[in-house]
Amino acid sequence: MALLFLDTADVNEVRQAAAWGILDGVTTNPTLMMRAGTADLKATTLEIVEIVQGPVSAEVISTDAEGMIAEAREILDWSEHVFVKIPCTVEGLKAMREISRWPNGRINATLIFSPIQAYLVAKAGATYASIFVGRMDDAGLDGMEVVRQTRAIFDRYGFPCQLLAASIRHPAHVVEALLAGADIITVPFGVLQQMVRSPFTDAGLERFLADWRKVAGAENRP
Ligand code: E4P
Repeated sequence: MALLFLDTADVNEVRQAAAWGILDGVTTNPTLMMRAGTADLKATTLEIVEIVQGPVSAEVISTDAEGMIAEAREILDWSEHVFVKIPCTVEGLKAMREISRWPNGRINATLIFSPIQAYLVAKAGATYASIFVGRMDDAGLDGMEVVRQTRAIFDRYGFPCQLLAASIRHPAHVVEALLAGADIITVPFGVLQQMVRSPFTDAGLERFLADWRKVAGAENRP
């Protein structure tokens, strides 16, 4: 089963998507917090947790291992649903190694752009490895190939680290990520809206309703 997360810090978007009944979790980052116009990471994260009752990622802003560990200690304490997002850097790896030893050490390793970075964060004990597909595509690279190669490596060596396809730009990315074996896909709200829509569905529904009106008459309309 591939999980579907929303990539946003906008509580209204989370509320709408959760109401559809298909949302498993949420990923945030400092840019998404900026877009949502909030600097209160704890309040926003907990509001989102309250809605989704599933994994919600909140990112550290320290760049040294000691600072990341101190932030993680606080963030992970907020709720059993919260994952701490740590960037794939040398300092990040050191922090992941330490945090992964804690009983509540839920880690989303972020900013991953190669299978070798994914391998390293898996070794460091990350729970999720977030591969930024769209940013690689934007740079003329094949982001999904990184997902495919990482899947093969994790499977071959039995890494329990879950592969999260992030930086998703359009519904075709979601299809490719599913076929490539991503465990989790995080999508912006706009992409989620595109995923459910088809002009054929709209036209088909319009036709069914028109035909029903013809055969059943006005009195049977809902
Ligand atoms: C994932 O957790 C990130 O927040 C996100 O997918 C980044 O995507 P972007 O390239 O749209 O900023």
